[in-house]
Amino acid sequence: MDTTIENMINSIDLSAPVPEYEPMRQYYYLKACRKIVKEKSEALNRPLTAVVSTFGCQMNARDSEKLLGILKDIGYQESDDEENADFVIYNTCTVRENANLRVYGRLGQLKKVKRANGEMIIAMCGCMMQEPEVVEKIKTSYKFVDIVFGTFNIFKLAELMYMCFTGDEQVIDIWDSTKEVVEELPTSRKYPFKSGVNIMFGCNNFCTYCIVPYVRGREKSREPKEIIREIERLVSDGVKEVMLLGQNVNSYGKTLDDKLLREIAKIDGLERIRFMTPHPKDLSDELIEAIRDNSKICNHIHLPLQSGSSRLLKLMNRQYTKEHYLELVDKIRNTIPDISITTDIIVGFPGETEEDFEDTLDVVRKAKYDSAYTFIYSKRTGTPAAKMDGQVSEDIVKDRFNRLLATVSEVSHEHIKRYEGMDMDVLVEDIDDHDNTFVTGRMTNNILVHFKGDKELIGSIVNVHLDECKGFYYMGTKND
Ligand code: 5AD
Ligand code: SF4
Repeated sequence: MDTTIENMINSIDLSAPVPEYEPMRQYYYLKACRKIVKEKSEALNRPLTAVVSTFGCQMNARDSEKLLGILKDIGYQESDDEENADFVIYNTCTVRENANLRVYGRLGQLKKVKRANGEMIIAMCGCMMQEPEVVEKIKTSYKFVDIVFGTFNIFKLAELMYMCFTGDEQVIDIWDSTKEVVEELPTSRKYPFKSGVNIMFGCNNFCTYCIVPYVRGREKSREPKEIIREIERLVSDGVKEVMLLGQNVNSYGKTLDDKLLREIAKIDGLERIRFMTPHPKDLSDELIEAIRDNSKICNHIHLPLQSGSSRLLKLMNRQYTKEHYLELVDKIRNTIPDISITTDIIVGFPGETEEDFEDTLDVVRKAKYDSAYTFIYSKRTGTPAAKMDGQVSEDIVKDRFNRLLATVSEVSHEHIKRYEGMDMDVLVEDIDDHDNTFVTGRMTNNILVHFKGDKELIGSIVNVHLDECKGFYYMGTKND
Protein backbone atom coordinates (compact mmCIF):
# COMPACT_ATOMS: atom_id res chain seq x y z
CA MET A 1 0.00 0.00 0.00
CA ASP A 2 1.24 3.45 -0.95
CA THR A 3 2.40 5.10 2.30
CA THR A 4 1.23 8.58 1.26
CA ILE A 5 -2.31 7.26 0.71
CA GLU A 6 -2.13 5.40 4.02
CA ASN A 7 -0.99 8.54 5.85
CA MET A 8 -3.81 10.57 4.29
CA ILE A 9 -6.39 7.97 5.32
CA ASN A 10 -4.98 7.90 8.85
CA SER A 11 -5.26 11.66 9.10
CA ILE A 12 -9.02 11.58 8.43
CA ASP A 13 -11.31 12.42 11.36
CA LEU A 14 -14.48 10.35 11.03
CA SER A 15 -16.38 12.62 13.42
CA ALA A 16 -15.79 15.63 11.14
CA PRO A 17 -18.12 16.33 8.19
CA VAL A 18 -17.52 14.21 5.07
CA PRO A 19 -14.94 16.00 2.86
CA GLU A 20 -16.47 17.46 -0.27
CA TYR A 21 -13.47 17.03 -2.56
CA GLU A 22 -11.73 13.97 -3.97
CA PRO A 23 -9.71 12.00 -3.16
CA MET A 24 -10.22 13.03 0.52
CA ARG A 25 -13.89 12.13 0.28
CA GLN A 26 -13.05 8.56 -0.73
CA TYR A 27 -10.35 8.37 1.95
CA TYR A 28 -13.07 9.22 4.47
CA TYR A 29 -15.26 6.40 3.19
CA LEU A 30 -12.36 3.96 3.05
CA LYS A 31 -11.73 4.63 6.71
CA ALA A 32 -15.43 4.45 7.63
CA CYS A 33 -15.81 1.15 5.76
CA ARG A 34 -12.68 -0.28 7.39
CA LYS A 35 -14.38 0.26 10.75
CA ILE A 36 -17.63 -1.41 9.66
CA VAL A 37 -15.86 -4.39 8.06
CA LYS A 38 -13.71 -4.85 11.17
CA GLU A 39 -16.80 -4.93 13.39
CA LYS A 40 -18.55 -7.42 11.12
CA SER A 41 -15.48 -9.58 10.98
CA GLU A 42 -15.11 -9.56 14.79
CA ALA A 43 -18.77 -10.48 15.21
CA LEU A 44 -18.37 -13.42 12.83
CA ASN A 45 -14.94 -14.30 14.18
CA ARG A 46 -13.51 -14.69 10.68
CA PRO A 47 -12.25 -12.44 7.90
CA LEU A 48 -14.79 -11.21 5.32
CA THR A 49 -14.16 -12.35 1.75
CA ALA A 50 -14.75 -10.68 -1.62
CA VAL A 51 -14.88 -11.96 -5.20
CA VAL A 52 -14.34 -9.64 -8.17
CA SER A 53 -15.56 -11.30 -11.39
CA THR A 54 -14.40 -9.68 -14.59
CA PHE A 55 -16.02 -9.93 -18.01
CA GLY A 56 -14.68 -8.33 -21.19
CA CYS A 57 -11.48 -6.59 -22.13
CA GLN A 58 -8.23 -5.49 -20.54
CA MET A 59 -9.76 -2.13 -19.59
CA ASN A 60 -12.20 -4.01 -17.41
CA ALA A 61 -9.42 -6.20 -16.01
CA ARG A 62 -7.55 -3.05 -14.98
CA ASP A 63 -10.72 -1.56 -13.44
CA SER A 64 -11.15 -4.78 -11.47
CA GLU A 65 -7.68 -4.36 -9.99
CA LYS A 66 -8.79 -0.94 -8.76
CA LEU A 67 -11.98 -2.39 -7.28
CA LEU A 68 -10.05 -5.16 -5.55
CA GLY A 69 -7.58 -2.60 -4.22
CA ILE A 70 -10.42 -0.75 -2.50
CA LEU A 71 -11.99 -3.95 -1.17
CA LYS A 72 -8.70 -5.19 0.29
CA ASP A 73 -8.03 -1.78 1.77
CA ILE A 74 -11.28 -1.83 3.72
CA GLY A 75 -10.53 -5.29 5.07
CA TYR A 76 -11.87 -7.92 2.69
CA GLN A 77 -9.78 -10.93 1.76
CA GLU A 78 -9.69 -11.83 -1.91
CA SER A 79 -11.41 -15.10 -2.77
CA ASP A 80 -12.65 -16.99 -5.83
CA ASP A 81 -15.38 -18.87 -4.03
CA GLU A 82 -18.45 -16.93 -5.11
CA GLU A 83 -20.90 -19.15 -3.23
CA ASN A 84 -19.37 -18.43 0.15
CA ALA A 85 -18.20 -14.86 -0.32
CA ASP A 86 -19.46 -11.93 1.73
CA PHE A 87 -19.16 -9.56 -1.20
CA VAL A 88 -19.43 -10.36 -4.92
CA ILE A 89 -19.02 -7.83 -7.69
CA TYR A 90 -19.54 -8.42 -11.42
CA ASN A 91 -17.58 -6.05 -13.62
CA THR A 92 -19.58 -6.49 -16.81
CA CYS A 93 -19.08 -6.22 -20.58
CA THR A 94 -21.69 -5.48 -23.22
CA VAL A 95 -19.72 -5.51 -26.46
CA ARG A 96 -21.72 -8.50 -27.73
CA GLU A 97 -25.08 -9.90 -26.67
CA ASN A 98 -23.33 -13.07 -25.48
CA ALA A 99 -21.44 -11.12 -22.84
CA ASN A 100 -24.75 -9.83 -21.42
CA LEU A 101 -26.34 -13.26 -21.44
CA ARG A 102 -23.43 -14.71 -19.50
CA VAL A 103 -23.84 -12.04 -16.83
CA TYR A 104 -27.58 -12.68 -16.46
CA GLY A 105 -26.90 -16.42 -16.27
CA ARG A 106 -24.36 -15.99 -13.49
CA LEU A 107 -26.62 -13.54 -11.68
CA GLY A 108 -29.42 -16.10 -11.70
CA GLN A 109 -27.09 -18.56 -9.96
CA LEU A 110 -26.10 -15.94 -7.43
CA LYS A 111 -29.72 -15.29 -6.57
CA LYS A 112 -30.02 -18.83 -5.19
CA VAL A 113 -26.85 -18.39 -3.16
CA LYS A 114 -28.07 -15.13 -1.71
CA ARG A 115 -31.33 -16.76 -0.66
CA ALA A 116 -29.26 -19.02 1.62
CA ASN A 117 -26.93 -16.24 2.74
CA GLY A 118 -28.90 -13.00 3.12
CA GLU A 119 -25.83 -11.17 4.41
CA MET A 120 -24.04 -11.45 1.08
CA ILE A 121 -23.62 -8.12 -0.73
CA ILE A 122 -23.91 -8.19 -4.53
CA ALA A 123 -22.66 -5.34 -6.70
CA MET A 124 -22.73 -4.82 -10.46
CA CYS A 125 -20.64 -2.37 -12.42
CA GLY A 126 -18.98 -1.92 -15.80
CA CYS A 127 -20.20 -1.39 -19.34
CA MET A 128 -23.60 -3.13 -19.11
CA MET A 129 -24.62 -0.76 -16.35
CA GLN A 130 -24.28 2.19 -18.75
CA GLU A 131 -27.32 0.89 -20.65
CA PRO A 132 -30.51 2.32 -19.13
CA GLU A 133 -32.60 -0.77 -19.97
CA VAL A 134 -30.17 -3.00 -18.08
CA VAL A 135 -30.39 -0.85 -14.95
CA GLU A 136 -34.19 -0.82 -15.27
CA LYS A 137 -34.17 -4.63 -15.44
CA ILE A 138 -31.97 -4.87 -12.34
CA LYS A 139 -34.26 -2.48 -10.47
CA THR A 140 -37.37 -4.49 -11.26
CA SER A 141 -36.27 -8.11 -11.73
CA TYR A 142 -33.02 -8.39 -9.79
CA LYS A 143 -33.89 -6.62 -6.56
CA PHE A 144 -31.40 -8.73 -4.63
CA VAL A 145 -28.56 -6.76 -6.24
CA ASP A 146 -27.40 -4.27 -3.61
CA ILE A 147 -25.13 -1.83 -5.47
CA VAL A 148 -25.10 -0.71 -9.12
CA PHE A 149 -22.62 1.70 -10.67
CA GLY A 150 -21.09 2.30 -14.09
CA THR A 151 -17.80 2.84 -15.89
CA PHE A 152 -17.25 6.48 -14.92
CA ASN A 153 -17.37 6.25 -11.12
CA ILE A 154 -15.61 3.06 -10.05
CA PHE A 155 -13.46 5.18 -7.74
CA LYS A 156 -16.60 5.64 -5.59
CA LEU A 157 -16.86 2.00 -4.52
CA ALA A 158 -16.07 2.74 -0.84
CA GLU A 159 -18.71 5.50 -0.70
CA LEU A 160 -21.35 3.28 -2.31
CA MET A 161 -20.50 0.44 0.06
CA TYR A 162 -20.87 2.78 3.00
CA MET A 163 -24.35 3.74 1.71
CA CYS A 164 -25.17 0.06 1.38
CA PHE A 165 -23.91 -0.78 4.90
CA THR A 166 -25.87 2.06 6.47
CA GLY A 167 -29.11 2.05 4.44
CA ASP A 168 -31.57 -0.54 3.19
CA GLU A 169 -32.31 0.66 -0.34
CA GLN A 170 -30.68 -0.59 -3.55
CA VAL A 171 -27.75 1.82 -4.11
CA ILE A 172 -27.71 2.95 -7.75
CA ASP A 173 -25.25 5.55 -9.05
CA ILE A 174 -24.72 5.80 -12.81
CA TRP A 175 -22.97 8.74 -14.48
CA ASP A 176 -23.24 9.44 -18.19
CA SER A 177 -19.75 10.85 -18.58
CA THR A 178 -16.53 11.40 -16.68
CA LYS A 179 -17.03 14.27 -14.25
CA GLU A 180 -13.73 13.85 -12.53
CA VAL A 181 -10.84 11.40 -12.56
CA VAL A 182 -9.78 10.25 -9.12
CA GLU A 183 -6.49 8.45 -9.34
CA GLU A 184 -4.83 8.24 -5.93
CA LEU A 185 -6.63 5.16 -4.68
CA PRO A 186 -5.35 1.74 -3.68
CA THR A 187 -5.04 -0.89 -6.47
CA SER A 188 -4.36 -4.60 -6.17
CA ARG A 189 -2.49 -5.98 -9.17
CA LYS A 190 -3.21 -9.49 -10.38
CA TYR A 191 0.41 -10.01 -11.45
CA PRO A 192 3.26 -8.47 -9.43
CA PHE A 193 5.46 -8.25 -12.54
CA LYS A 194 3.11 -6.80 -15.15
CA SER A 195 0.39 -4.22 -15.21
CA GLY A 196 -2.06 -2.43 -17.46
CA VAL A 197 -1.80 1.35 -17.51
CA ASN A 198 -4.70 3.41 -18.82
CA ILE A 199 -3.47 6.03 -21.24
CA MET A 200 -6.88 7.11 -22.48
CA PHE A 201 -10.51 6.41 -21.76
CA GLY A 202 -13.52 6.27 -24.07
CA CYS A 203 -13.74 6.37 -27.84
CA ASN A 204 -14.74 8.89 -30.52
CA ASN A 205 -14.66 6.65 -33.56
CA PHE A 206 -18.24 5.42 -33.65
CA CYS A 207 -17.73 2.28 -35.70
CA THR A 208 -21.34 1.60 -36.61
CA TYR A 209 -21.53 -1.85 -34.95
CA CYS A 210 -19.93 -0.82 -31.68
CA ILE A 211 -21.49 0.10 -28.37
CA VAL A 212 -18.25 1.20 -26.71
CA PRO A 213 -18.55 4.95 -27.42
CA TYR A 214 -21.97 4.86 -25.75
CA VAL A 215 -20.87 3.00 -22.60
CA ARG A 216 -17.34 4.36 -22.19
CA GLY A 217 -18.05 7.90 -23.35
CA ARG A 218 -16.03 10.42 -25.31
CA GLU A 219 -12.32 10.10 -25.62
CA LYS A 220 -10.22 11.47 -22.77
CA SER A 221 -6.44 11.25 -22.71
CA ARG A 222 -4.41 11.13 -19.57
CA GLU A 223 -1.56 13.60 -19.20
CA PRO A 224 1.73 12.06 -20.39
CA LYS A 225 3.45 13.05 -17.15
CA GLU A 226 0.77 11.26 -15.11
CA ILE A 227 1.28 8.15 -17.24
CA ILE A 228 5.06 8.28 -16.81
CA ARG A 229 4.71 8.82 -13.07
CA GLU A 230 2.39 5.85 -12.71
CA ILE A 231 4.77 3.60 -14.68
CA GLU A 232 7.77 4.76 -12.64
CA ARG A 233 5.88 3.85 -9.47
CA LEU A 234 4.90 0.47 -10.88
CA VAL A 235 8.49 -0.27 -11.88
CA SER A 236 9.77 0.62 -8.43
CA ASP A 237 7.19 -1.87 -7.15
CA GLY A 238 8.58 -4.71 -9.30
CA VAL A 239 6.71 -4.34 -12.59
CA LYS A 240 8.71 -5.34 -15.68
CA GLU A 241 6.04 -5.15 -18.37
CA VAL A 242 3.33 -2.55 -18.94
CA MET A 243 0.40 -2.73 -21.33
CA LEU A 244 -0.73 0.76 -22.33
CA LEU A 245 -4.49 0.61 -22.50
CA GLY A 246 -7.11 2.50 -24.44
CA GLN A 247 -10.07 1.70 -26.67
CA ASN A 248 -8.18 3.45 -29.42
CA VAL A 249 -4.71 4.25 -28.24
CA ASN A 250 -3.56 6.16 -31.32
CA SER A 251 -6.80 7.82 -32.30
CA TYR A 252 -8.01 11.44 -32.41
CA GLY A 253 -6.25 12.75 -29.30
CA LYS A 254 -3.11 10.92 -30.49
CA THR A 255 -2.39 9.86 -26.92
CA LEU A 256 0.02 7.18 -28.00
CA ASP A 257 2.40 9.07 -30.20
CA ASP A 258 5.94 7.92 -30.74
CA LYS A 259 7.16 10.61 -28.32
CA LEU A 260 5.27 9.12 -25.39
CA LEU A 261 6.41 5.61 -26.32
CA ARG A 262 10.03 6.71 -26.53
CA GLU A 263 9.72 8.52 -23.17
CA ILE A 264 8.27 5.44 -21.50
CA ALA A 265 11.02 3.29 -23.00
CA LYS A 266 13.58 5.44 -21.17
CA ILE A 267 12.26 4.38 -17.76
CA ASP A 268 15.01 2.42 -16.03
CA GLY A 269 14.03 -1.05 -14.92
CA LEU A 270 11.06 -1.29 -17.27
CA GLU A 271 11.74 -4.14 -19.66
CA ARG A 272 8.71 -4.51 -21.89
CA ILE A 273 6.06 -2.20 -23.30
CA ARG A 274 2.88 -3.33 -25.02
CA PHE A 275 -0.10 -1.31 -26.16
CA MET A 276 -3.71 -2.12 -26.99
CA THR A 277 -5.56 -1.25 -29.23
CA PRO A 278 -4.35 0.88 -32.12
CA HIS A 279 -6.70 1.85 -34.96
CA PRO A 280 -5.33 1.11 -38.47
CA LYS A 281 -6.37 4.53 -39.73
CA ASP A 282 -4.06 6.26 -37.26
CA LEU A 283 -0.99 4.04 -37.15
CA SER A 284 1.76 6.48 -38.10
CA ASP A 285 5.15 5.76 -39.64
CA GLU A 286 6.75 7.33 -36.58
CA LEU A 287 5.00 4.85 -34.28
CA ILE A 288 6.11 1.91 -36.42
CA GLU A 289 9.66 3.26 -36.37
CA ALA A 290 9.54 3.71 -32.58
CA ILE A 291 8.69 0.02 -32.25
CA ARG A 292 11.53 -0.90 -34.60
CA ASP A 293 14.08 1.30 -32.83
CA ASN A 294 13.35 0.25 -29.32
CA SER A 295 13.96 -3.22 -28.02
CA LYS A 296 11.71 -2.62 -24.98
CA ILE A 297 8.65 -2.10 -27.19
CA CYS A 298 7.29 -5.55 -27.90
CA ASN A 299 7.28 -6.98 -31.40
CA HIS A 300 3.54 -7.29 -31.58
CA ILE A 301 0.80 -5.16 -33.10
CA HIS A 302 -2.85 -5.97 -32.64
CA LEU A 303 -4.45 -4.40 -35.68
CA PRO A 304 -8.21 -4.93 -35.83
CA LEU A 305 -9.34 -5.57 -39.40
CA GLN A 306 -13.08 -6.14 -38.75
CA SER A 307 -13.72 -6.80 -42.46
CA GLY A 308 -11.64 -7.18 -45.59
CA SER A 309 -14.32 -5.64 -47.81
CA SER A 310 -13.86 -1.94 -48.58
CA ARG A 311 -17.61 -1.67 -49.10
CA LEU A 312 -18.37 -3.04 -45.61
CA LEU A 313 -15.52 -1.08 -44.03
CA LYS A 314 -17.26 2.06 -45.27
CA LEU A 315 -20.58 0.94 -43.80
CA MET A 316 -18.73 0.16 -40.57
CA ASN A 317 -17.23 3.68 -40.59
CA ARG A 318 -13.72 2.30 -40.21
CA GLN A 319 -12.15 4.96 -42.44
CA TYR A 320 -9.73 2.71 -44.30
CA THR A 321 -10.01 0.41 -47.31
CA LYS A 322 -8.84 -3.14 -47.90
CA GLU A 323 -5.93 -1.78 -49.94
CA HIS A 324 -4.96 0.76 -47.30
CA TYR A 325 -4.97 -1.95 -44.63
CA LEU A 326 -2.82 -4.31 -46.69
CA GLU A 327 -0.37 -1.51 -47.50
CA LEU A 328 -0.10 -0.82 -43.79
CA VAL A 329 0.63 -4.48 -43.06
CA ASP A 330 3.32 -4.47 -45.76
CA LYS A 331 4.84 -1.33 -44.32
CA ILE A 332 4.90 -2.85 -40.81
CA ARG A 333 6.45 -6.09 -42.05
CA ASN A 334 9.04 -4.28 -44.17
CA THR A 335 10.04 -2.06 -41.24
CA ILE A 336 9.97 -4.76 -38.53
CA PRO A 337 10.40 -8.15 -40.25
CA ASP A 338 9.99 -10.31 -37.13
CA ILE A 339 6.82 -8.60 -35.87
CA SER A 340 3.74 -10.54 -34.95
CA ILE A 341 0.43 -9.12 -36.19
CA THR A 342 -2.90 -10.18 -34.69
CA THR A 343 -6.41 -8.97 -35.40
CA ASP A 344 -10.15 -8.87 -34.69
CA ILE A 345 -12.63 -9.86 -37.38
CA ILE A 346 -16.42 -9.65 -37.44
CA VAL A 347 -18.51 -11.99 -39.62
CA GLY A 348 -22.08 -11.29 -40.61
CA PHE A 349 -22.18 -7.49 -40.49
CA PRO A 350 -25.50 -6.33 -42.05
CA GLY A 351 -25.44 -6.66 -45.83
CA GLU A 352 -22.33 -8.87 -45.92
CA THR A 353 -22.31 -10.77 -49.22
CA GLU A 354 -20.28 -13.83 -50.18
CA GLU A 355 -18.02 -11.50 -52.14
CA ASP A 356 -17.45 -9.26 -49.09
CA PHE A 357 -16.64 -12.32 -47.04
CA GLU A 358 -14.18 -13.58 -49.67
CA ASP A 359 -12.40 -10.23 -49.33
CA THR A 360 -12.01 -10.89 -45.61
CA LEU A 361 -10.52 -14.34 -46.29
CA ASP A 362 -8.23 -12.75 -48.85
CA VAL A 363 -6.86 -10.27 -46.29
CA VAL A 364 -6.38 -13.07 -43.74
CA ARG A 365 -4.26 -14.95 -46.27
CA LYS A 366 -2.26 -11.91 -47.31
CA ALA A 367 -1.73 -10.38 -43.85
CA LYS A 368 -0.54 -13.72 -42.37
CA TYR A 369 -1.82 -13.11 -38.86
CA ASP A 370 -0.22 -14.91 -35.95
CA SER A 371 -3.69 -15.17 -34.51
CA ALA A 372 -7.12 -13.61 -34.91
CA TYR A 373 -10.08 -13.11 -32.60
CA THR A 374 -13.14 -13.88 -34.68
CA PHE A 375 -16.62 -12.69 -33.75
CA ILE A 376 -20.12 -13.21 -35.05
CA TYR A 377 -21.75 -9.81 -35.53
CA SER A 378 -24.00 -9.00 -32.61
CA LYS A 379 -26.73 -6.41 -32.94
CA ARG A 380 -26.35 -3.73 -30.26
CA THR A 381 -29.39 -1.54 -29.65
CA GLY A 382 -28.64 2.12 -30.19
CA THR A 383 -25.84 1.61 -32.71
CA PRO A 384 -26.38 2.63 -36.37
CA ALA A 385 -25.79 -0.92 -37.67
CA ALA A 386 -28.70 -2.25 -35.63
CA LYS A 387 -31.04 -0.39 -37.99
CA MET A 388 -29.27 -1.38 -41.22
CA ASP A 389 -30.93 -3.55 -43.85
CA GLY A 390 -29.76 -7.00 -44.77
CA GLN A 391 -29.12 -8.62 -41.39
CA VAL A 392 -27.47 -11.91 -42.44
CA SER A 393 -29.24 -15.19 -41.60
CA GLU A 394 -27.85 -17.39 -38.84
CA ASP A 395 -27.05 -20.34 -41.16
CA ILE A 396 -24.99 -18.25 -43.52
CA VAL A 397 -23.14 -16.53 -40.68
CA LYS A 398 -22.30 -19.85 -39.00
CA ASP A 399 -21.01 -21.29 -42.25
CA ARG A 400 -18.84 -18.21 -42.90
CA PHE A 401 -17.61 -18.17 -39.31
CA ASN A 402 -16.42 -21.78 -39.63
CA ARG A 403 -14.72 -21.09 -42.93
CA LEU A 404 -13.02 -18.06 -41.40
CA LEU A 405 -11.81 -20.10 -38.41
CA ALA A 406 -10.39 -22.75 -40.73
CA THR A 407 -8.57 -20.14 -42.83
CA VAL A 408 -7.22 -18.32 -39.78
CA SER A 409 -5.84 -21.50 -38.24
CA GLU A 410 -4.32 -22.67 -41.50
CA VAL A 411 -2.59 -19.33 -42.06
CA SER A 412 -1.49 -18.74 -38.50
CA HIS A 413 -0.19 -22.29 -37.92
CA GLU A 414 1.90 -21.98 -41.01
CA HIS A 415 3.16 -18.52 -40.09
CA ILE A 416 3.76 -19.01 -36.38
CA LYS A 417 6.09 -21.95 -37.11
CA ARG A 418 8.74 -19.52 -38.31
CA TYR A 419 10.22 -19.27 -34.82
CA GLU A 420 10.91 -23.00 -34.46
CA GLY A 421 14.52 -23.67 -33.47
CA MET A 422 15.16 -20.07 -32.35
CA ASP A 423 16.22 -18.87 -28.88
CA MET A 424 13.86 -16.25 -27.48
CA ASP A 425 13.44 -14.25 -24.24
CA VAL A 426 10.34 -15.26 -22.33
CA LEU A 427 8.71 -13.44 -19.40
CA VAL A 428 7.52 -16.26 -17.14
CA GLU A 429 3.93 -15.66 -16.00
CA ASP A 430 2.62 -18.76 -14.29
CA ILE A 431 2.84 -22.43 -13.52
CA ASP A 432 1.49 -24.39 -16.50
CA ASP A 433 -2.22 -25.23 -16.08
CA HIS A 434 -1.75 -28.81 -17.25
CA ASP A 435 1.53 -29.83 -15.67
CA ASN A 436 2.96 -28.19 -12.57
CA THR A 437 6.52 -29.14 -13.45
CA PHE A 438 6.21 -26.70 -16.36
CA VAL A 439 5.89 -22.91 -16.50
CA THR A 440 4.21 -20.65 -19.07
CA GLY A 441 5.50 -17.37 -20.37
CA ARG A 442 5.28 -14.95 -23.25
CA MET A 443 7.75 -13.96 -25.90
CA THR A 444 7.95 -10.32 -27.00
CA ASN A 445 5.61 -11.24 -29.89
CA ASN A 446 2.98 -12.30 -27.29
CA ILE A 447 3.14 -15.99 -28.27
CA LEU A 448 2.99 -18.40 -25.32
CA VAL A 449 5.80 -20.83 -24.54
CA HIS A 450 5.66 -23.77 -22.12
CA PHE A 451 8.84 -25.25 -20.70
CA LYS A 452 10.17 -27.17 -17.70
CA GLY A 453 10.63 -24.89 -14.71
CA ASP A 454 9.34 -24.00 -11.27
CA LYS A 455 7.57 -21.12 -9.59
CA GLU A 456 10.86 -19.40 -8.71
CA LEU A 457 11.02 -18.34 -12.35
CA ILE A 458 7.71 -16.45 -12.29
CA GLY A 459 8.26 -12.76 -13.04
CA SER A 460 11.70 -13.20 -14.58
CA ILE A 461 12.77 -13.05 -18.20
CA VAL A 462 14.63 -16.16 -19.30
CA ASN A 463 16.08 -17.34 -22.59
CA VAL A 464 14.30 -20.37 -24.03
CA HIS A 465 14.99 -22.60 -27.01
CA LEU A 466 11.82 -23.10 -29.05
CA ASP A 467 11.68 -26.84 -29.69
CA GLU A 468 8.30 -27.32 -31.28
CA CYS A 469 5.40 -25.22 -32.48
CA LYS A 470 2.05 -26.64 -31.38
CA GLY A 471 -0.27 -24.44 -33.37
CA PHE A 472 -0.81 -21.32 -31.28
CA TYR A 473 1.97 -21.96 -28.76
CA TYR A 474 5.44 -23.42 -28.38
CA MET A 475 7.10 -26.08 -26.27
CA GLY A 476 10.64 -25.09 -25.33
CA THR A 477 13.68 -25.74 -23.17
CA LYS A 478 15.26 -23.14 -20.91
CA ASN A 479 18.82 -22.25 -21.93
CA ASP A 480 21.39 -22.21 -19.11
N1 5AD B 1 -20.57 -7.60 -32.79
C1 5AD B 1 -19.51 -8.44 -32.89
N2 5AD B 1 -18.27 -8.08 -32.57
C2 5AD B 1 -18.07 -6.83 -32.10
N3 5AD B 1 -16.96 -6.19 -31.70
C3 5AD B 1 -17.30 -4.95 -31.32
N4 5AD B 1 -18.61 -4.75 -31.47
C4 5AD B 1 -19.12 -5.92 -31.96
C5 5AD B 1 -20.43 -6.34 -32.34
N5 5AD B 1 -21.48 -5.53 -32.25
C6 5AD B 1 -15.62 -6.80 -31.75
C7 5AD B 1 -14.69 -6.02 -32.65
C8 5AD B 1 -13.75 -5.37 -31.67
C9 5AD B 1 -13.71 -6.38 -30.55
C10 5AD B 1 -13.26 -5.85 -29.24
O1 5AD B 1 -15.06 -6.80 -30.46
O2 5AD B 1 -14.00 -6.95 -33.47
O3 5AD B 1 -12.47 -5.13 -32.22
FE1 SF4 C 1 -16.62 -4.95 -23.12
FE2 SF4 C 1 -16.07 -2.80 -24.53
FE3 SF4 C 1 -16.63 -2.53 -22.00
FE4 SF4 C 1 -14.33 -3.65 -22.73
S1 SF4 C 1 -14.99 -1.53 -23.07
S2 SF4 C 1 -15.69 -4.39 -21.16
S3 SF4 C 1 -14.98 -4.77 -24.59
S4 SF4 C 1 -18.01 -3.25 -23.62
